[in-house]
Amino acid sequence: MSRSLNLAVIPGDGIGQEVVAQGLKVLSSVLPQDVKLETREYDLGAQRWHRTGETLPDAELTDLKGHDAILLGAIGDPTVPSGVLERGLLLKLRFAFDHYVNLRPSKLFPNTATPLAGRPEIDFVVVREGTEGPYTGNGGSLRTGTPAEVATEVSVNTAYGVERVVRDAFERANSRPRKKLTLVHKNNVLVYAGHLWKNIFDAVAAEYPDVTTDYLHVDAATIFFVTQPERFDVIVTDNLFGDILTDLAAAVTGGIGLAASGNINPTGTFPSMFEPVHGSAPDIAGTGKADPTATILSVALLLRHLGFEPEAVRIEEAVTADLAGRDGTVRTTDEIGDALAARV
Ligand code: NAI
Ligand code: MG
Repeated sequence: MSRSLNLAVIPGDGIGQEVVAQGLKVLSSVLPQDVKLETREYDLGAQRWHRTGETLPDAELTDLKGHDAILLGAIGDPTVPSGVLERGLLLKLRFAFDHYVNLRPSKLFPNTATPLAGRPEIDFVVVREGTEGPYTGNGGSLRTGTPAEVATEVSVNTAYGVERVVRDAFERANSRPRKKLTLVHKNNVLVYAGHLWKNIFDAVAAEYPDVTTDYLHVDAATIFFVTQPERFDVIVTDNLFGDILTDLAAAVTGGIGLAASGNINPTGTFPSMFEPVHGSAPDIAGTGKADPTATILSVALLLRHLGFEPEAVRIEEAVTADLAGRDGTVRTTDEIGDALAARV
């Protein structure tokens, strides 16, 4: 039986273009001969917006739906008003394709620098809710631009939305050796949303007797990310807390150039989307300084999601070996991509 992979590619802005090229290079090197790879590139992002005023037209959204998965570089540019591309493109995709699991693994690879003392063992994954919380756009402003302006940004939490992401996190925890799941929220202050999360978490926990559970308030979690990151295995949390925690997780595990992520629709109704955690890095765009490793590790997540497990493992092993060999010699984006493509 011949296999195929029909991939949508959104390089986007700034270094997004540079790192996605390397991700595709490694992808074509790692795929076995019998897999037919088809890619279609979408011109979306700041340049498109400047040219046409469009962020993500419905026709392209419909077209994107027909792919097995989406590989995205980064979206965002200082010449576009803040929020236009983030809401109109990135969040629109996550909501339209019901990416309710935002998966962000954090691992401290050998020979990578961490700002933490004593080189703790770090290997955890954050399951961030991706379609609810304060990110739904449920809010507005009154008397805008006057000294009496009022703004609301309501955090939306549904039992349905919380239960499905909590179940996904229990499944992931149950399939890992340590089988530990930590719920992070702030239920001492955010009592309505917090209790909904905690009650559902406890109810689902009863179905997973092998999984050890823990609860932390988000502020305490930031302390433990720095002082005791080895205590974490799988973490489940809401959209905003997960956004903030995963930048901290990237910082303690060797930096944003290594942090991969997947916006996953576990039911398979819509294509899942894989992207580095970092943005378009306008400060280094065009200089060849961007590390493509985060994107290449995102390609590994993409392959695992589509059932190409051996290929995902080969990429992760190549990255581990490449990082172990780094001796401070400066390499360009392209050179790192070539080295990883050669290793897989
Ligand atoms: P950023 O992640 O683009 O950059 C933060 C810092 O990390 C910069 O100093 C940058 O040079 C460095 N950096 C990022 N990726 C790197 C890589 N692969 N290798 C080496 N260094 C790297 O975040 P920033 O500056 O806050 O945002 C820039 C733009 O990107 C904004 O428009 C923002 O909205 C957008 N953004 C988009 C995201 C996405 O598409 N998912 C995520 C985060 C930000
Ligand atoms: Mg973020």
